[in-house]
Amino acid sequence: MNTFKQVNISLPDNTYPIIIDLQAFNLSGLEQELTKRKIMVVSNTTVAPLYLDHIVDLFPENKVFTCVLEDGEVHKNVRSWQRILDALAEHQFNRSDLLISLGGGVICDMTGFAAASWMRGIDFIQIPTTLLSQIDASVGGKTGINHSKGKNLIGAFHQPKAVIVNIKTLNTLPEREFNAGIGEAIKYGGIDQPDFFYWLSSHVDSIKNRDADVLQNLIAKCCEFKAEIVEQDEKEQGKRALLNLGHTFGHAIEIATHYHYLHGEAVALGMVMAAELSAQLGHCDVGIRKMLENLLQAFDLPIKLDVNVSSDELLQLMKADKKVVNDQHRLILMRGLGAAFIAEGVKDSEILITLQSCLTHT
Ligand SMILES: NC(=O)c1ccc[n+]([C@@H]2O[C@H](COP(=O)([O-])OP(=O)(O)OC[C@H]3O[C@@H](n4cnc5c(N)ncnc54)[C@H](O)[C@@H]3O)[C@@H](O)[C@H]2O)c1
Repeated sequence: MNTFKQVNISLPDNTYPIIIDLQAFNLSGLEQELTKRKIMVVSNTTVAPLYLDHIVDLFPENKVFTCVLEDGEVHKNVRSWQRILDALAEHQFNRSDLLISLGGGVICDMTGFAAASWMRGIDFIQIPTTLLSQIDASVGGKTGINHSKGKNLIGAFHQPKAVIVNIKTLNTLPEREFNAGIGEAIKYGGIDQPDFFYWLSSHVDSIKNRDADVLQNLIAKCCEFKAEIVEQDEKEQGKRALLNLGHTFGHAIEIATHYHYLHGEAVALGMVMAAELSAQLGHCDVGIRKMLENLLQAFDLPIKLDVNVSSDELLQLMKADKKVVNDQHRLILMRGLGAAFIAEGVKDSEILITLQSCLTHT
């Protein structure tokens, strides 16, 4: 029986597979990549004890080195990136060698950025181990680290050679992290996949019970949605910005609350705010916010901030985000469920009204 599904991303300079296996780290078809001389596997102190040995054992013919970083979004910074570069330097990695990420989105983003910057770019493979990184962070070539002034402010576009998903890794993922991943899945429904939104609504129990077949379908669908957008706009000159639904608000929430919320939780809160702003500006019905809130709550995701943050502070942080163009906010708003669009020139005063209403809404 075939235990894997495959989704391909076709880009002008690089076509690569996303292999989604029910029970294995499935590297079939990648033999050419694996003849590389040396491999550096980057992981963290939580994931390494669980899966690092399995990954090293996959490469009996290669020289394999490991780099284990501190766990957490607060470590997605220059220091950790420097540690990866130091390890590459110590073991004399060159352009024919390979990096592998093993972990959640934080490790995927940092490993990708190290691969993008070492010797102006070496190959890497993503092995994402959180739901969020399997459906989003490992796919599409955005790599980077945070700056104290904002999320992902330092980075590069650099596509991996492959993405290897083993659904079994989700068995060890804490529930809160799992649900945060669903926040990004709901995002695809909100952008342009209303049928998927309804599919998620009708599979809440099987998803929460981590039914492997259902999860395999979910991950494959999300990767297909993301691939379709990235294939049309690899470097975010246009349509790819839609993938930021909920993110400008979300990034500000992450920073303002000192990462009290997980990334997927902050995106959930951000989507509620985007729906509220869309309704306030007359783009969509107020019911869209309610529909989003119902599905987010079904997966125990937050729909209201429970940390004391001022609307002014959030607005200032939103200004520091990458999506401000010529001092004007460029936000992803909705004309309906599954009808997101890029709204240019949104005013501070309009955003403030939404923030105030969402911070006080009960
Ligand atoms: N590059 C992109 O396109 C993109 C897209 C979305 C999000 N992101 C980034 O991804 C990051 C969030 O990723 P995340 O939600 O995966 O967070 P994360 O990487 O911090 O992982 C969450 C937690 O789960 C642990 N973990 C990972 N796999 C595990 C497993 N199988 N079993 C047990 N524990 C496990 C991690 O060690 C961590 O403690 C953010 O930095 C965000 O900016 C990037």
